[in-house]
Amino acid sequence: MIQIAIFASGNGSNAAKIIEHFKLQKDISFVVLSNNANAFVIERAKRLGVEVAVFEKNELYKKESVLHFLQSKEIDLIVLAGFMWLIPSNLVTAFPNKIVNIHPALLPKYGGKGMYGDNVHRAVIENKETQSGITIHLVNEKYDEGQIVFQEKVKITPKDTAETLAHKIHALEHLYYPLIIEELVEEIRKNKKEEITEEE
Ligand code: GAR
Repeated sequence: MIQIAIFASGNGSNAAKIIEHFKLQKDISFVVLSNNANAFVIERAKRLGVEVAVFEKNELYKKESVLHFLQSKEIDLIVLAGFMWLIPSNLVTAFPNKIVNIHPALLPKYGGKGMYGDNVHRAVIENKETQSGITIHLVNEKYDEGQIVFQEKVKITPKDTAETLAHKIHALEHLYYPLIIEELVEEIRKNKKEEITEEE
């Protein structure tokens, strides 16, 4: 089995698209973790039959209980899908190159603390950019600075508002994030097979 943990803080449309994408792949199992007990992602995950765990700030940053939870589940990949807190170094160290994030702009522009969700789109529109896009990247200890895995651009027209841009970006995210995760999963499958062959 390949165990994927999805971290999400809010609406969870990306989380749902990812879970739906892997529906027929029986060797994939998900758990959704959220820092927000009222997040709609929890409802979505439950409807999709996925286990949910809610945690508080000190369980992530002080007590290591989130780390221990992930280890007890033998998590292979952590997917951040609209997760708004910084990933602490104990997780980065325990899951090297195994944490991936999606950012709703073309990093390195419009990244960093406070740059999430609609804040990003408002800043892009205010600066009269002619294009934006999505960035999928590995996660390190700093906001939005890990190695970039994938980017896709979208044009901004003079009529676009933060709201219409958010819509365009979400469409790109829903299309590409599951596909990029699929590539990462394929890599994990390959490594697991090799480990089994080596043991034989
Ligand atoms: C997505 O657009 C994602 O790129 C963004 O939050 C949104 C979550 O939407 N993430 C960040 O801004 C991270 N810095 P969703 O809850 O509907 O998937």
